[in-house]
Amino acid sequence: MPPTSGLPADFLFGAATAAYQIEGAVAVDGRGASIWDVFSHTPGKTLNGDTGDRATDHYHRWAEDFDLVAGLGLDAYRFSIAWPRIQPDGRGAARPEGLAFYERLVDGLLDRGVQPVATLYHWDLPQALQEEGGWLSRETASRFADYAVRVADVLGDRIRLWTTLNEPWCSAFLGHGSGEMAPGLRDGESALRAAHHLNLAHGLGVQALRASRPDAEVSVTLNLHTVRDAPGSKVDGARRVDAVGNRVFTGPMLRGEYPADLLRDTAAITDWSFVHDGDLAVIAQPLDSLGVNYYHSELVAPAPAGESADPDAMAAFPGCADLRFLPYEPPLTDMGWNIDPDALEELLVDLHTEFPGIPLMVTENGAAFPDVVTEGRVLDDDRIAYLSSHIAATVRAVNRGADVRGYFAWSLLDNFEWALGYSKRFGLVRVDYDTFERTVKDSGIWYRDLIRTVKAGADDEG
Ligand code: FCB
Repeated sequence: MPPTSGLPADFLFGAATAAYQIEGAVAVDGRGASIWDVFSHTPGKTLNGDTGDRATDHYHRWAEDFDLVAGLGLDAYRFSIAWPRIQPDGRGAARPEGLAFYERLVDGLLDRGVQPVATLYHWDLPQALQEEGGWLSRETASRFADYAVRVADVLGDRIRLWTTLNEPWCSAFLGHGSGEMAPGLRDGESALRAAHHLNLAHGLGVQALRASRPDAEVSVTLNLHTVRDAPGSKVDGARRVDAVGNRVFTGPMLRGEYPADLLRDTAAITDWSFVHDGDLAVIAQPLDSLGVNYYHSELVAPAPAGESADPDAMAAFPGCADLRFLPYEPPLTDMGWNIDPDALEELLVDLHTEFPGIPLMVTENGAAFPDVVTEGRVLDDDRIAYLSSHIAATVRAVNRGADVRGYFAWSLLDNFEWALGYSKRFGLVRVDYDTFERTVKDSGIWYRDLIRTVKAGADDEG
C-alpha cells in the first residue's frame, strides 16, 4: 500500500463514472438522443460498432451498484447527469422522469453514507442542440445554464459539490478538431470556437448553479496535458501544446484571459472574433475547487522532415501540425498509454503554485488492462500497481504543499470507453456484458482495504 500520511483527515476517496458510459436504457422514460447515440450508431466511428444502448445497465441496476460502492467504503461517488434525460430536446421544461432517476441515485448514495459529486456535462449533448450548431453555437452555452438551473433547483438540497463540465478539451478538440469523438468534426477553427463556447457555458453554468443554490460548491474538471519537450528538442513544443491543450481553459476560467501566446500561435486559424465583450468576465467565476483528470504524460518534438506538413497528425492540437508526440516508453496500459506517476505529482504541485487559492481534486485516474477471470476472481495486480503509484504521487504532492482534497479512481465499473467501445476495462468492478454480472476485482478489494487503513489511522490520531 502507498504511504498516506500527510493526507487531510477529510480527504475524499471515491470512484467516478459517466452517464453514457454506464447507464444504458437510452430510450427509457423519454430520454432524448445525444450526440453520442448518433455518433456511436454511425458506422465506423466506434470499435466493433459498439454503442451505449445497454452499457452496464446501471439505469436499472444502480441499487446493486451502490451496494458495491458502500461495500468498498467509498467516501464519495462522482457521476454525471445526462442532459437528454432532463431536457430531451435540450430546452424547455425538465422531464420529471429524468429528474426522478437522479433523485433516486442521490438518495441512494446518501442512504449509504456516500457523498454524491455531480457533473452536469460529460459529453452527451442533446442531439437536437447539435442540429442547431452544438458547441459551435453560442446559444448552446445559454441552453446549458438553463439546464443547470433546472437540475440544481431539484437536486441542490442534496448535492453539495457540482462540476460544470468534464474535460471540455475532449469535447472541443477531439469532438471538432480530430473528429475522434462526437460530433466528429475535423476542423481547427471549429475546435477553438467550441472551446470558447464551452468556456462560456462553464461560466454561465457556475452563475446558474449559485443563483439556484448560493451554498453550492462549484468546480470544473480538466484533463490537463502533462507535456515536456523531448530531450534536445529546440522548438517550444511543450509551451505550444500547453497553450492549446491546457491554458485555453485555465486562462479564461482562472485568470480571465486567453493567453497571448495561444492567440498568436493560432492567428492563422482564427481571429477569435467569437469572443465577445464581457465573455471573459462571465467565464472567470470564482471556483471552490478544480478537478484534475490524469492518465499519462507526453514528450513532444518537431515532426521528422517530410512528415511535417501532415495536418492530420496533430489535428486535435490546432497550430501544432509541425510537432509530434514521441511514442511512449513501456510499460504501457491497455490504452497504449505510458505509466508516469511522477508527472501527476508535478502537475498537482505546479497547479498549486500557479493557482494557490484553489483546492484541487484528482477527479479521474486509473488504467485499462486486459483482465482475466480466474476461478471467479480478477487478479489485476497491474491495476493495483498503477493506482498505488498514483495515490502515492498524490500524497507526495500533498506533502509538498499542494492542496489536494480528494482522489477518484476511474472507474467504478468497466464501461463503454467511447470510441473504443467495450474493449477497454477500467473498472474496480468487472462487468460481464452478456449477463451484466458484477465482480469486484482484486483492485477493488485493495482500494477498500486502503481506505479502511487510512480511516483507521485518522481515527487513531483523532
Ligand atoms: C477520460 C474520460 C472518461 C474515461 C477516461 C478513460 O478522458 O473523462 O470518461 O473515458 O478518460
